[in-house]
Amino acid sequence: MNHYKSNLFSRFIPVSDKSISEISMGEGNTPVVRLGKELYAKVDYMMPTLSFKDRGAVVMIAAAHEKGIRHIIQDSSGNAGCSVAAYCARAGINADIYLGESTPEKKIKMIESFGAKVLKIAGSREDVAAAAIKEASKGEKYYASHVFDPLFVQGMKSYLFEVYHDFEGDLPDNIFVPLGNGTLFFGVHLALQDLLENQIINKSPNIIAIQTANCAPIYNSYTLWHAATQKHPKEKVKPRFHSVINRGTIADGIAIASPAKGQQILEIICNYNYSIVAVDDTEILDAHSALSRMGYYLEHTSAANYAGYLKYVSKPDQVTGTSLITLCGATK
Ligand SMILES: Cc1ncc(COP(=O)(O)O)c(C=O)c1O
Repeated sequence: MNHYKSNLFSRFIPVSDKSISEISMGEGNTPVVRLGKELYAKVDYMMPTLSFKDRGAVVMIAAAHEKGIRHIIQDSSGNAGCSVAAYCARAGINADIYLGESTPEKKIKMIESFGAKVLKIAGSREDVAAAAIKEASKGEKYYASHVFDPLFVQGMKSYLFEVYHDFEGDLPDNIFVPLGNGTLFFGVHLALQDLLENQIINKSPNIIAIQTANCAPIYNSYTLWHAATQKHPKEKVKPRFHSVINRGTIADGIAIASPAKGQQILEIICNYNYSIVAVDDTEILDAHSALSRMGYYLEHTSAANYAGYLKYVSKPDQVTGTSLITLCGATK
C-alpha cells in the first residue's frame, strides 16, 4: 500500500490524495529491520532519493504543483536538495537548488541529473539560506524551503505514523532522531501530538535527538539550561538558544550551526522532557564501521544515529527497552 493511503496519513496530513498520487515515487512505508536485541532501524535508504526527506518533499511539491507553481528555489546541505529536485522533476517544476561549496560532489551530480539548476554559495550554511531567501524575495520563484514550508514538516509526520503501523499499533520505547534543522524532529513531535490528542496512543515514547559534537548548538544550549535548572531547582529557567561555529565534522547533514528554528526546537526538548546526545567524529566513524560490518553502508550523517544510540544506552542510569533509529543514504 502507498504510504499516503494510510488512515493516519489522510487524517492528519493536509494534502489531497490525487495531487500526491500524481508525483509519488512509492516513497514511505520503508521496512524496519532488527539491528540488535532491542534495536530496530527504519531503512530509509530505500527511499527514492535515499533519505527520509522524501516524505516532506512529496507533500510540499504536490501542494506547489496543485497551486500551479512553475519555478521553485530551495537551499540545502544536500539530501533535501536531492529530494526536492526529484519531486520537481516529477511535477514538471523548475528548481534552483542553493548549496554550500563543500556539498559532496555525488549529491550535486544527483541534483543536476534531475534537471535542477545548482547554485553554489560561498560561506556558511546560513549564507546559503540567505542567498536563496534574497532571490525568493524578488517574488518570481516560490521558496520551497524544507525548513520553513509548513507542508514539508506535515509530510515528515508520516515517519511516525508508519512506525506506529510497523509496531502494530504501538511505538518503540525510544525514538532517536537526527537533529540539524529539525525536519524529522518536528515531524515526529507533531505526529506524536496528533496521536496523543486523539487518544490513539496514551503515552509518549522517549525522544532522543542526536547532534554532532563539533556543531551542536541545541545540545550545548540544552546543557546550559539543564545545568541552570539543577543550580536553581525552585526557579523556572527559560531555555535560551545559542548558535555555534561549525568546527568541522564528517556528519555534514546535521551540521547546522544556527538552525532557523533553534529556539523553538530547544523549548520543545526542554518542555516535553526529551533527551539529546552529541557524538564526536570518532564515535561516528566507529559506528559507521560497525554498521558496515553488519552489511549496511551508510553516509556518516546517518551513522551518527547509531553512534547516538550506543552512547545513550551506555549511560548507567539510562532507561532501555525497544529503540528505533533511521538509516539513510549511501551517496558517498
Ligand atoms: C541523512 C540525514 N540525516 C539527518 C539530517 C538532518 O535533518 P534536519 O536538518 O532536518 O534535522 C539530514 C539533513 O539533510 C540528512 O540528510
